[in-house]
Amino acid sequence: MTKIAIDGPAGAGKSTISKKVAASLGYVYIDTGAMYRTVGLKAVRCGIDTRDAEGVTKILPALDIDIRHEGVEQHIYLDGENVSDKIRTPEISMAASNVSAIPAVRVAMVDMQRKLAKNHDVVMDGRDIGSFVLPDAEIKIFLTASAEARARRRYKELLQKGESVSFEEVYNDMVQRDKNDSTRAVSPLVVAEGATVIDTSDLNLEESVEAVISTVRSRI
Ligand code: DC
Repeated sequence: MTKIAIDGPAGAGKSTISKKVAASLGYVYIDTGAMYRTVGLKAVRCGIDTRDAEGVTKILPALDIDIRHEGVEQHIYLDGENVSDKIRTPEISMAASNVSAIPAVRVAMVDMQRKLAKNHDVVMDGRDIGSFVLPDAEIKIFLTASAEARARRRYKELLQKGESVSFEEVYNDMVQRDKNDSTRAVSPLVVAEGATVIDTSDLNLEESVEAVISTVRSRI
């Protein structure tokens, strides 16, 4: 099985680009951020403070998360309900960032992720895929962009979805999440050894996809 790990901060274009790479190679696309988001949604629904490690850890044994694939689209189910859209709000983004710092949450998610990669050729995107989840991935890419460029993209996306947010809020959330994700004690966001760094600040989507696909093609 071939494994392609695509890591990087929020808003670098990982999921859009990873999906296109997976489609062009016929691989399964796995969005690991969606898993942390779903744990965050579950905690919020249970009325648990997402920074309360003990409280969040208690919901893990009964956690019912299911991942299904339809072509290159990943759908994620929580307790039998398709929550793929419900996990994309600013509230759940922050909840995901909080729960992802909890060691027991990471153990449970990494276990699911490794199982998924065992049975398929995958393009897996996240923060710690090349560094921890799949250290033996054949190809590792670290996709990044300036905080401003990433916030601009996320802001546009949220407006298109009809969310009422200000650019400032999105930018501040982005900086806060970057800080959480890179300074947490377990599996912080780092450039994995052997990863190719691609900065998409000055690239549009097509150019970013092209940069990633040409890196991938030169290696497999
Ligand atoms: O990629 P995303 O924005 O959907 O990720 C949501 C949160 O989950 C993000 O703040 C960091 C966390 N995450 C993680 O810690 N490890 C991963 N492999 C993927 C996401």
